[in-house]
Parts: sequence; structure tokens; C-alpha cells
Amino acid sequence: MNTKITLPIIITFLLLLCSCAEAPKYRIGVSQCSDDDWRKKINGEITRETLFHDNVEVEFRSADDDNDRQMEDLRYFASNGFDLIIAAPNESDKLTPLLDSIYHNGIPLVIFDRKTNSDYYTSFQGADNSSIGRAAAQYANAVYQPRYKELRILEIEGNMETSPARERHSGFNQYADSCDHLRVLAAADARWTTDGARLVTDSLLRLYPETNVIFAHNDRMAIGSAMVADSLGRDDIMIIGIDASPTIGLKAVMDSVIDVTFIYPSEGRALLKTAIAILEGKPYQKNITIPTRTAVDLTNAEILLLQQQALDVETNNILDLKGRLDYYWEQHNIQSVILYAVLIIAVLLGILTFIILRTARIQRQLRNETEEQNRKLVLQQEHLVRQRDEIESQNQQLVQKNQEISQILEQLQQATQSKLTFFTNVSHDLRTPLTLIAEPVSQLMGADNLTSRQTKLMELAAKNVKILMRLINEILDFRK
Ligand code: FRU
Repeated sequence: MNTKITLPIIITFLLLLCSCAEAPKYRIGVSQCSDDDWRKKINGEITRETLFHDNVEVEFRSADDDNDRQMEDLRYFASNGFDLIIAAPNESDKLTPLLDSIYHNGIPLVIFDRKTNSDYYTSFQGADNSSIGRAAAQYANAVYQPRYKELRILEIEGNMETSPARERHSGFNQYADSCDHLRVLAAADARWTTDGARLVTDSLLRLYPETNVIFAHNDRMAIGSAMVADSLGRDDIMIIGIDASPTIGLKAVMDSVIDVTFIYPSEGRALLKTAIAILEGKPYQKNITIPTRTAVDLTNAEILLLQQQALDVETNNILDLKGRLDYYWEQHNIQSVILYAVLIIAVLLGILTFIILRTARIQRQLRNETEEQNRKLVLQQEHLVRQRDEIESQNQQLVQKNQEISQILEQLQQATQSKLTFFTNVSHDLRTPLTLIAEPVSQLMGADNLTSRQTKLMELAAKNVKILMRLINEILDFRK
């Protein structure tokens, strides 16, 4: 088929296929500093939000509280073409240089939960940790002080190299310092872990048996402290945690393992929305501080847990719906591609048929024209043959006539020749007697005895002899 026709068709076909293909995806890397229930919750929220954004693909990595591992994860995202990185940096001093350089290399960076030491990030989203610390102190003051008069508190800190631990500490202590009956006996870094909390609580409770409140920077540590207090028969100690994530904190309150926890908002949904706004060049806030002061104790833990369970059910329903939707969408895409393919094939077949019919018509025309030309040529040929035959017969006639003319000419020549010969012979024959006549005539003319009459006759004779001689000579000259 003609390339002028096929090329545009193939290009159209490819364009149609391309238009059926999915739009290019934004790849977002989420670097979590550790792997725990609170982070699982936020990852779930991010994943749920991605269901509503077909053009987004998220990969999660967790560093398990290890700075080097988190740096590896961040480098992986930065060097593998991820369009944006969301990170909760483990220890700010350790992670800040790498995060700064990623930001300077032009990769949008959204920091959440834990802070870096610089302003080199695209957006930050996190709860007000010092406000949570203050809320914990206020709660203790309001709820436990009437019972204990003086609150003697042990503070079980998260890793103090991380910003939430420092802020929770300062918020709590600022408020405690402002109240005479709130006394922080001691504080120890348990690095956010249950085991760490068990270790430090055991030592601190032995050192400070007068303790009646333990404020732990998160629920896991609160549970660790509760285990120790329980083992030491110290049911009287009120235990405060932070996070209120469903599987650990809420459950621990419901089971009366700890007394209260404070909601540490995860807001994974808002986080992804900010990331997408950045990628799509839409407006976004550089710093988002999520206000929070909500305490969860036995009065509201159950309802929150039920809500969370209902939310989980709804999430599963959404996931199920999304799965079905994806399936139908896939079917629809396949059917669309098939439809386009069928349409294109039909168009191609139409064009092909048109070309074949056109070619056949042209061929038929050409054949007819050729036949017509052939017919004309045959006629011309016959005509020429006839002409040739005529010419040949005319030629023959001419040859015959020529021969006849030649014969006639020959005969004429012969006749002329005979005449000439005859005249020559006669002339020769006449000249001899004429010469013989001329001599006596000229002699006689010279005689003195001639009468004038005779002289005149003799002159006449001589004159005519002369004329005859001249004529005979002319005949003989002509013959030469
Ligand atoms: C989880 C966690 C939480 C805490 C937060 C602070 O890794 O330890 O328990 O609230 O980090 O960044």
C-alpha cells in the first residue's frame, strides 16, 4: 500500500492507543524514621488518599530508628527519580545535612512529625508537640492533683535528639514549673521504645518510690512503664502516654493498662494532599501546625475505638469498591482499546477496499485503452501492409515500365544510331561525288568562254554545291 496513506494511519493508531494509556504517575517516596502503630496508621491514611489520585504512586520505607538506614532510604528516593519525598527525620542533627542537600538538588521535600534544624524544606506538617506536653501536664493537674495533692512525676522521654521529645518535654515542664504541686522528680531518655521505658522506669521507681505519676512521651513507653509499675505492685501510679493510636494506645487505655493518652494527629491524608499540590504547582502552606490537646481516657476511649473500627470497616469497603472500580475500569480500557482497534481495522479495510477497487478500475481502464490502442495499431498495421503491397505492386509496375522505357530507349538509340550511320554513310557517299562535281564546276567557272548566262548558271551550281558540301559536313560533324 502507498506509504503516504499508511504512515498517517499508523500514527493515528498509535496516538489512539497512547490516549488510552494511563497518564504519567508522580512517584512519591515516604521515609519513616521508625516502624510502629502510629506510623502504620499514617501510612494507611496516605495509602487511602492515593486511592483518590490515579496519578500518584507511593513507596514507603522505614528506617527502624536508625539514622544511617534512613539516610540510605532518602538517597534511594533521591537517586531513583522520585518526584517528591515525604520524610519524618529520625534525629534532626544527623539527618538535616542530607535533607538540605536533597532540597537544594530541587527535589520537593515535605517534612512531617519530626523537624530538621533548617528551613530548607518545601513544606512542614506536624502537631504542636509542646502543646501536647502542656496538655498532659494540665490534665494531670486537673484530674490527679485533687486525688494526690502533690504530683510527683517521672518523665520517660523519647529520643531527645528528636524534636517531638524535646518539645513535649519543654511543654510539659513549662506548665509543671508554673504549678507548685507538680514536681518532676526525674527524666530519662527511653528512645521511644517499650524496652527502653521498662529499663529506665525500673531504675527510676526504685530511686523515686514517691512517684505517683509517670508521663511517657508515647504510649509504647507508657506501656513499658506500666508493666514495671505493675510488677512492683504500684497500681496507684497514674500513667500518661501520647499517640492514642488504635491498636496500642487506645487499647491500653481501654484495658486500663495506662490511664490516659493524648491524640497525636497523624493527618496522612492532608500530608498527601500537600504533596500533590506541590507537584501540581497548586498553592500550599509552607508550615502546617496541627493543633491538638485531646485526652483519651476511659470516658472516651471506647467511642474512639469504635469510631476507629467503623473507619476501618469503611476503609475496607472503600478498598473493595476501589478494587471493583479498578477492575471495571480495566475492563472498560480493554474494551475501549478493542473498540478503537476494530474501528481502525474497519477504516483500514475500507481504505484497502477503496484502493483495491480504484486499482482494479485503473487497471481495467488501462487494459481497455491498451486494447483500443492495439486495435488501432493492428488496423494501422493492416493499412500499412496494404500500402506496402500497393507500393510494391506500383514498384513492380514502375520496374516494368522502366524496362519498357529502357527497351524503347534502346530501340530509339538503335534507330538513331542506324539513322546516324545511314546519314554518315550517305553523307560520305554523297561527299565523294559532290567533290567530284565541285571540282569540274569550279574549273568550268574559270573558263573564259562562258556566256554571262552560263556563268550565272555555273555560279548557281557552285553555290548549291557549296551548300550541299556544308550540309554534308555538318551531318558528319554532328555524327562526331
Ligand atoms: C513513632 C513515635 C510516636 C511519637 C512520634 C514522635 O515513631 O515514636 O510514638 O509520638 O514518633 O515523633
